[in-house]
Amino acid sequence: MTDPQKTAALIRARAGDEPVRLGLILGSGLGHLAHAVDGPAIPYADLPGFPHVGVSGHNPHLHIGLLEGVRIAVFGAREHYYENGNPAAMRGALATLKALGAERLILTNAAGSLRPDIPPGDLMLLSDHINYNGLNPLIGEKTDARFVPMTDAHSPGLRAALRAAAAAEGIALKEGVYAWYSGPSFETPAEIRLLKTLGADAVGMSTVPEVILARFLGLEVAAISTVTNMAAGMSDERISHEHTKAMAPLGAAKLERILRRFLSTQG
Ligand code: HPA
Repeated sequence: MTDPQKTAALIRARAGDEPVRLGLILGSGLGHLAHAVDGPAIPYADLPGFPHVGVSGHNPHLHIGLLEGVRIAVFGAREHYYENGNPAAMRGALATLKALGAERLILTNAAGSLRPDIPPGDLMLLSDHINYNGLNPLIGEKTDARFVPMTDAHSPGLRAALRAAAAAEGIALKEGVYAWYSGPSFETPAEIRLLKTLGADAVGMSTVPEVILARFLGLEVAAISTVTNMAAGMSDERISHEHTKAMAPLGAAKLERILRRFLSTQG
């Protein structure tokens, strides 16, 4: 594996030595916020250990600099499991974030909703998740650190801060359980009924392996979904990647306000 310390040194040479406080991974259609960061945008291709991302609607650059007074690393894109079958695709990038000094990570994604009271355009803070794939990014890890506890994996402290930021902005932030489905095909209506029975409130193709990796690395983590559609079989609208990209901006503006407010309280 690439040495994250070496990649961190490359980044420091371009973005400065000051430690990064927080990482932020942007999901489908949410890339806008990356450009608000006051600092360089480094292509993933220049960073050993970073993923090769090929999904349209993603921006494969690491933006490092100040946002609302906090030194932040914004990941404009992620590699999903469905791209190359690697659940640990984000390990090098997240290990590098840790090597840059960060202790906290916020993940965002686009998701389908299983709850009629969380319609498209709404935001859902993840209270917990279901690793419905049974895949794990730590398979093959040889140290005992692989036995990561996942109780309160979604940080109660970070969640409280995000809830407070949403309330201060007057934005409804729902809360629920996210199920990770491998993709890239969408779910069948029968699979969505199954996931509902299992206790899921939203479904998507990312985030869960990153939460596991974050906890493995000792990063405090929280995640917010932008609901782009009702899950398969729950409405008449046709589900597609085009639709996901078209709908993501509905929630993205609200998400940006929550994140900016959250950052402004981190000083
Ligand atoms: N299913 C899985 N992933 C998604 C969906 C969905 O309905 N919408 C956006 N990402």
